[in-house]
Amino acid sequence: MSVASIPAAAAAQLDVRPLSAHIGAEITGVNLAHPLDAQTTAAIRAALLKHRVIFFREQFLSHEQHVAFSAQFGELTVGHPVFGHVEGYPQIYSISKFRKATRFEGQTLLRPWTGWHTDVTAAVNPPFASILRGVEIPPYGGDTQWTNLVIAYDKLSEPVRRFVDGLRGVHRFAPPVGATGTSAFASAVEQHTLVSEHPLVRVHPETGERALYVSPGFLKHIVGVTPRESQALLELLWEHVTRPEFTVRFKWEPGSIAFWDNRSTAHLAPTDIFDLDFDRQLYRTTLVGDVPVGPDGRASVAIEGSSVGAAAAVALN
Ligand code: SIN
Repeated sequence: MSVASIPAAAAAQLDVRPLSAHIGAEITGVNLAHPLDAQTTAAIRAALLKHRVIFFREQFLSHEQHVAFSAQFGELTVGHPVFGHVEGYPQIYSISKFRKATRFEGQTLLRPWTGWHTDVTAAVNPPFASILRGVEIPPYGGDTQWTNLVIAYDKLSEPVRRFVDGLRGVHRFAPPVGATGTSAFASAVEQHTLVSEHPLVRVHPETGERALYVSPGFLKHIVGVTPRESQALLELLWEHVTRPEFTVRFKWEPGSIAFWDNRSTAHLAPTDIFDLDFDRQLYRTTLVGDVPVGPDGRASVAIEGSSVGAAAAVALN
């Protein structure tokens, strides 16, 4: 049966249960395999804006259903602008355990914020949202964490908020420190250079809130300050945005879905899975985003590479 021919679900009785003080809620009472009515779509979108990341359980979606669910909230991007997509599914990116298998020489410099990122902030228009579906999940380990960049901004002191309001930073995709140049990961990054300048504080286009837009994995330096000033300031801000009280940690099960607002969050993919023998396989879609704007009204600018557009449409049969 084609996805389009499945009758719309009756107005779902959504139950939205917050999971921490500042971020994350689990939603029950809806079957995402079916097209949603306007009321349910609006309720899910409102929960996304309020809780930043929302979770669903026991939604055993096919790739087609994942794409169809995502399309109810925006235009889908290509799976990943640097690392491509699942064959036959231009909108789906495979989050497999060894997708970034990279050889390292010597010791990697690990810091508390290492690995935290907001998706694709090296692009001038990072995706507005990401929808991640768990398929093969280890019995333990492999949790993902998200942090709320709006509460992080609000919890800065007033003078520091005013100071960072006017700053901008350069975001780029770069191979991890210590990676050799031979891995597929490093060469994909080199072949698809993406570099953009974004405000350090982003005004949320739907809510008007200010978010501390400091994606640790991509933000390389602050514009117009010395390298030492940039590094010290960024470390202060990265340490701040990853404070545990701003975060939520999600334990995956097969059929779990995480749907996050990429304009107001950063997240951390697990690395403990590399100490376990279990496999882990998830699939992600992302929705086309707008160009961020700072509190001064200045928009982000692309330095290298193009914006992330919509993936070519495919028939969903
Ligand atoms: C991601 O960064 O989108 C993947 C998160 C995960 O693997 O848990």
